[in-house]
Amino acid sequence: MEFETQLKGLFDDRFKTQEPLAKHLNFRIGGPAAWFAEVKSVEELQESLRLATEAGVKTFVLGGGSNTLASDEGFDGLVLKMAMRNFTIKGTAVIAEAGVISAALARATAEAGLAGFTWAISLPGTIGGGVRGNAGCFGGEMKDVITKVDVLRDGEVVTIHKEDLGFGYRESHFKRHSDIVVRVYLSLTPGDKETLVAELKDKVTARKESQPLYAGSAGCIFKNYEIASPEELERLKTVLNIPESMQQSMRLSAGWLIDRADLKGKQVGDAKISEEHGNFLINLGNATASDIVMLISEVKTEIRDLYGIQLQEEVQYVGF
Ligand code: EPU
Repeated sequence: MEFETQLKGLFDDRFKTQEPLAKHLNFRIGGPAAWFAEVKSVEELQESLRLATEAGVKTFVLGGGSNTLASDEGFDGLVLKMAMRNFTIKGTAVIAEAGVISAALARATAEAGLAGFTWAISLPGTIGGGVRGNAGCFGGEMKDVITKVDVLRDGEVVTIHKEDLGFGYRESHFKRHSDIVVRVYLSLTPGDKETLVAELKDKVTARKESQPLYAGSAGCIFKNYEIASPEELERLKTVLNIPESMQQSMRLSAGWLIDRADLKGKQVGDAKISEEHGNFLINLGNATASDIVMLISEVKTEIRDLYGIQLQEEVQYVGF
């Protein structure tokens, strides 16, 4: 097949057919991608997308695989794994290619004496994926450190400034458009290297204490629930004893809700709601995507029936 020959020519041994997605996703679940390539440059991304369009093959751009659930049947198209991992630090300005691992960049910036990004030491996945979902933890969010992003739009590289990226809680422009993040620009502030490096260690420890990092998962599976109005808060207070911090932020931790509903430990096949954190569904070893989907659906039904709250997935689906 001509398409395969072209991709083989472009990527050599970074191109595979029938590649199990389970190998590339933190859930360790998912059937094969018909075609799969590890992309090391913007030019390779441009060219492979062009070839796919020409051949009428659908594509899926994969970041670090931390927030993705692939179906058991896999993906009947081309998966492009973003593996461009170069970055530069000049003064307080950082430029990172989309495939840079967020935690690696958190470490590098702390070691360069730059403050503002240490929270990302706890963030699984790539910076490109992090921008797409406006990922965050420990009080930090991608939108707080970004100034602009280079994207691939209809084959051309275009720059978009932060104000135009539609950032919200776990939301961005990229969830509604087909633009692909290729380069991210961050602005940090000078800080004390030793303090910053110590912060990295504290954050890793805090995460290990509250999240099940020993098992396959997609991090938090649901978005936290945003309370729409003071009236809704009053209604929720009649069915839940809501901690002051969540009332202030007008956001309920989905993990906390799942815990209140006594759903921790619930299992479908080898998929289980973590005992450590209710918003983590873990793969005990042989979970299928169907097990996970069923468990997600049971949680949503239960939380809706108990509290009138509709949880929304944070995880992104491929091949469903
Ligand atoms: N809580 C429980 N039971 C649970 C889980 C949480 O009682 O099973 C309580 C905690 O004790 C705490 C509160 O709920 O009082 C909030 O919990 P946590 O600090 O774990 O934060 P979260 O809102 O549940 C968010 C992010 C996480 C991020 C943590 C830490 C979302 C959906 N989740 O969780 O991000 O790591 O804060 O900053 O926004 C992710 O997005 O994949 C993710 C894991």
